[in-house]
Amino acid sequence: MRQFKGYKILIVGLIFLVLVFCLMMPWPEPMILWLEQPRPVSEDASETIDWDSLSQELPNLTNLLYWPPSGGDRDDFLASTSPRTSTYHLKGPAQANYTLGSNLEAILVARDHWGRPKAHGGDLFRAQLLGPELRAGVPGEVKDLENGTYLLSFPLLWAGWAQVQVRLIHSSEAVGVLQRVWREKRATVDFRGHFRGTNGTQETVICNVDPQSTGAKGSTCQYKDVVSGEIWFCAQPCTLPCNALVGHSSGSYLKVTTPHDEDLLAGYVTDQKLPSGIPPILVLQAAQENMENTALPSRPPCHPGHLSPKPSGFYHQDRWHSTFCSSRSFPTVESILNCLSGRIVGDSTLRQWWEYLRDTVPSLKPVDLHATYQVGPLMAVETTRGTVLHWRAHSWPLRSLRTPVASLHSVARELHGLAGGPYTVVVLGMGAHFTTFPPSIFARRLAGIRAAVKALLDREPSTLVVIKLANTGYKSVYGSDWLTLQMNRFLRAAFVGLRVAFVDAWEMTSSLAVPDDIHPRKLIVRNEVELFLSFICPT
Ligand SMILES: *[C@@H]1O[C@H](CO)[C@@H](O)[C@H](O)[C@H]1NC(C)=O
Ligand SMILES: *[C@@H]1O[C@H](CO)[C@@H](O)[C@H](O)[C@H]1NC(C)=O
Ligand SMILES: *[C@@H]1O[C@H](CO)[C@@H](O)[C@H](O)[C@H]1NC(C)=O
Ligand SMILES: *[C@@H]1O[C@H](CO)[C@@H](O)[C@H](O)[C@H]1NC(C)=O
Repeated sequence: MRQFKGYKILIVGLIFLVLVFCLMMPWPEPMILWLEQPRPVSEDASETIDWDSLSQELPNLTNLLYWPPSGGDRDDFLASTSPRTSTYHLKGPAQANYTLGSNLEAILVARDHWGRPKAHGGDLFRAQLLGPELRAGVPGEVKDLENGTYLLSFPLLWAGWAQVQVRLIHSSEAVGVLQRVWREKRATVDFRGHFRGTNGTQETVICNVDPQSTGAKGSTCQYKDVVSGEIWFCAQPCTLPCNALVGHSSGSYLKVTTPHDEDLLAGYVTDQKLPSGIPPILVLQAAQENMENTALPSRPPCHPGHLSPKPSGFYHQDRWHSTFCSSRSFPTVESILNCLSGRIVGDSTLRQWWEYLRDTVPSLKPVDLHATYQVGPLMAVETTRGTVLHWRAHSWPLRSLRTPVASLHSVARELHGLAGGPYTVVVLGMGAHFTTFPPSIFARRLAGIRAAVKALLDREPSTLVVIKLANTGYKSVYGSDWLTLQMNRFLRAAFVGLRVAFVDAWEMTSSLAVPDDIHPRKLIVRNEVELFLSFICPT
C-alpha cells in the first residue's frame, strides 16, 4: 500500500511592483530573527562587495549585460526611434502558403520621427506570431544587426492562419536612459524602517541597500544576515537603538529622470505597435500522412537541468506547449492532486501560483498565518494527501505595505534551513524588485542564492528546484521590460550548470495578443503552474 507523503511547497518570489501591492515569495514556519547583529557602520559598504567570489559564480558581467551601443544625438527627441515610421517586411518573396515546421523571416527597418533610417541598433522590439482563431501565439526572435535593421524570425509551429505583430517596447534612446539610471544611480526608490522602543516610542527613518541612499547625515544602522551576508541599511534613529527596527515598508520613488528622458519613455512611443507589414500567412502541413496540426518534435519528459531553447514553447488552443519537454495539462482537480501527492512539494512559488492552486483545488485549505500582511507567509494544506503549500515574500528590497521585519526571511537563509528530498519542491521567483538598483545588487544577491541552491541539491539531489523567470509588465524607469530582460540574463547565468528547472514566464507573457501585466491573467498563470506541475510529475 502506498503511503502518502506530505508536500511542502515553498514559493519564494520577487515580484516587482511599481505600485505597491501584492508581492510574492513564501516561506514556511516562523524562524529566527534575521537581524542578528545590527551595528552602526561608517564605511561605504558598497566597497566591500566580494567581486572575486562573485566572478567565480557568475560569468563576466560585461559580456552578460552586453547591449548594442545606441550612439546618436541623445538630446534630439525627433532623432529617436519611432514606432510609427519603423517598418518590417518579409525577407524573401511572399509565398501562397508556408510549411508547418519551417521558419518565417522578416527584416525590420528602424526609423526616427523624421522617417530617417537609424544607423545603429539597441531598440527593444517585441515580435510575435499570433493565431487569434486558434488562440495560438509564439514569441519571435529579434536579432539586432546593429545598423538600424533587425532580423525577425518566427518558427511556424501550428497549421492555420498566423499574423506577425511587432511592437516597439523602448527606443534605443529610451534604453540609453534606463541603462544610465541603472548603472549610475545607487537606487531609484527608498524604503521606510519603523523603529519601536520598549517604552512605546516610535521613529520612522529611510532605509536602503546602501548607506548613502538612506539620506543619513550621521551614522547608519547596518543589518547583516549572518547566513547569507546580505546587508541592509537604515539611517540611525535619533533616540532609538538600531536593534529597535521592527517594521519595513516601501518609501518613495526618487526623481531620476530629466524632462527629455521622460519624453523618451512617454506612453505614445513606449509599447506601441508598428504598422502591419506582412499580411496574414497560411501554414499547411507538409505531408498528408502527418495530420498533426502542430509541429512538436518528440520531446523527453520534463526534468530539471535543461537549458530551454528559444522559443521555449508556444500557445495553441490556450495551452502552452513546451518545445523541449512534454509539458502536460492538468485539467481536473484530481489530476493536480495526483501530481501533488507522492512527494513533498517543498518550497516556494509565486503567490499567483499559490492562489491558483488554492482556488483550483477545493480540498487545499488555506491557513492564514498572518493574513493581515501582504507579504505572507501563506500556507495551504491538503490533509488527505499530506500536501503543504507555502508561499512567502523574499526579503528586502521588497516594496510592500508595512510588514514586520521578522517576517522578511532571506531566500538563501530559507534554503539553508531546508532539508530537501524527493518530496520537496522549491520555486524561486525573483527579479522584479531589483530593477531599482544597480546590477551589482542583484548579482551579489544571486551569488548567495546560487550557493544555497547548490548546497541544497548537493545534500539532497532529489529536491526539485524551479526558477520562475521574471515576466513582462512594467514600462517605466523604475521597472521596465528592458530591465527585466537583464534580470533574466542574471537568473539564467546564476543557475546554469545546476539541476534546476526554468519556467520561462517571460516568453509565456510575450506570446499572446493581451496587454502586458506584471500580474498576468489566469490563463497564463494556469499554464505556468501546469508547466511547473509537469516538472513534478513528468509522466
Ligand atoms: C569581461 O569582458 C570584457 C569584454 O569582453 C573584457 O574586456 C574583460 O577583460 C572581461 N573580464 C574578465 C574578467 O574576463
Ligand atoms: C500552397 O501553395 C502552393 C504553391 O506554392 C499551391 O500549389 C497550393 O495549391 C497551395 N495550397 C493551398 C491550400 O493554398
Ligand atoms: C545591416 O547589416 C546586415 C548584416 O551585416 C547587412 O546584411 C545589411 O545589409 C545591413 N543593412 C544596412 C542598411 O546597412
Ligand atoms: C522612551 O525611550 C526613548 C529612548 O530611550 C526616550 O528618548 C524617550 O524619552 C522615552 N519616552 C518616554 C515617554 O519615556
